[in-house]
Amino acid sequence: MDLGGVTPTQAEHALRRLAGGALEPDAELVRQAGLLLERLRRHHPASYAHSFRVTHWTMAMWRAAPAWLGCGATALLGSALHDVGKLYVPVRSLASREPLATDERRLVQAHAAAGGALLAARRFPRAIIDVAAHHHERWDGGGYPSGQAATSLAPIVRAVAAADAFTAMTEPGRSYRTPFSQEAALRELEACRGRQFDPQAVATLILAVTEEAAPAPMEALPHGRRAGFLRRVCLAACGRELMPAAF
Ligand SMILES: [Fe+2]
Ligand SMILES: [Fe+2]
Repeated sequence: MDLGGVTPTQAEHALRRLAGGALEPDAELVRQAGLLLERLRRHHPASYAHSFRVTHWTMAMWRAAPAWLGCGATALLGSALHDVGKLYVPVRSLASREPLATDERRLVQAHAAAGGALLAARRFPRAIIDVAAHHHERWDGGGYPSGQAATSLAPIVRAVAAADAFTAMTEPGRSYRTPFSQEAALRELEACRGRQFDPQAVATLILAVTEEAAPAPMEALPHGRRAGFLRRVCLAACGRELMPAAF
């Protein structure tokens, strides 16, 4: 794929902002990622915006559970590039307001394998390739492209799967329905944990969303928000089977 003439500035700066001061990802990888994301922005702006929303939530999860999720640069670039294979999907399929026919749905689903292959050809690290290739696998198997149980995949792949679903439910611009509230989307993920999603990834996302929504101590919250805050924190902090080992 020819990337000549594409200005990396906007995407590359956005990646560096999301990395924050604590992370120093490989400069050449960030440049390559910026080029690919600029290409995605020109192909389908909604997929570009979605990619950065997923990156935002993945990095919030990484900050909540860094020991469990491992390398921060992998979290950053894997989530940012998770849908890069959509470069190969026609815009009319990505933007369709109608339910997709079987052939067209397969074409859209092929973005996962295509993204993995694209990143492999560009010699991205294996963990980043795996996020692009396998973020639609399910915890219990039955996802795509391989149908393997996500239990065999690295935590960062399972984390991006949860952040991706949460983002898809809550972001604007989905023509077929109004966005879910964050609480409703987390309830959906909870309902699917252990079947579609890694329970630990769901718990980490709940923690990340809770911390972002309520960074102040509980005493600083209006009375009306305290019960919800406590419920979410207890679920994340007391549900032993849900908790990352690092907590
Ligand atoms: Fe995807
Ligand atoms: Fe996505």
